[in-house]
Amino acid sequence: MAKLGLNVDHVATIRQARGGVEPDPVAAAAMGELAGAEGITIHLREDRRHIQDRDLEILRRTVKTKLNLEMAATQEMVRIALRIQPEQVTLVPEKRQELTTEGGLDVILNAKLISDTVKRLKDGGICVSLFVDPNQEQIKAANKTGTDYIEIHTGAYAEAKGWKEQEHELEHIDTAIKLARKVNLGVNAGHGLNYVNIKPLAALGGIEEYNIGHSIMARAMLVGLDRAVRDMVELIKYA
Ligand code: PXP
Repeated sequence: MAKLGLNVDHVATIRQARGGVEPDPVAAAAMGELAGAEGITIHLREDRRHIQDRDLEILRRTVKTKLNLEMAATQEMVRIALRIQPEQVTLVPEKRQELTTEGGLDVILNAKLISDTVKRLKDGGICVSLFVDPNQEQIKAANKTGTDYIEIHTGAYAEAKGWKEQEHELEHIDTAIKLARKVNLGVNAGHGLNYVNIKPLAALGGIEEYNIGHSIMARAMLVGLDRAVRDMVELIKYA
């Protein structure tokens, strides 16, 4: 059955807005696990705009399910990952000016850097996933890097206007899942997923883990984190 990886970056974003100590993403992660999340995802950005090194250190000691660290393929981040030992690293592209991760990795253009980074992480005992658009050429290139998983960028699907466009994007994702599974890559997915668009996606099958942050935290503000996580877990598991 597919799993929810709860992304707690937004909790840190609110904390950083005041530069104080609350709300604490560590507390949100613990509550999320109690409510049924089977993984905790954080993105340690180069500019430390939300998650801080302190969060990563504490979460490594407190997360009981699976810690998934999203990061750029830089020397600094690889050193941190090898020391902290998250269960999984998801390599993502990072631009300073973006509001959130805007597109998948260009694995074709950055094949050597990504392959070398995948090797260093895997040699250090960490499972690796590459965040890629649902594009066949990118997935073939991802497979050549030796990665264990891909995470399909679902942004285009989430932003599709109208059912026809959404169905078109869903077809791209379905083709991507089938290609990845054929070459024995595990498949995760994330970005822009919410309580409505998760249903047709989950019904496709073949996705092991959904990394979701914004929509869960937005709902949590109104109904509480426990309820927001439980509702999403149910949609993922029983689609
Ligand atoms: N997966 C990856 C690789 C991401 O970069 C993000 C955004 O931080 C997410 C999943 C979660 O996206 P959202 O907050 O839109 O659910």
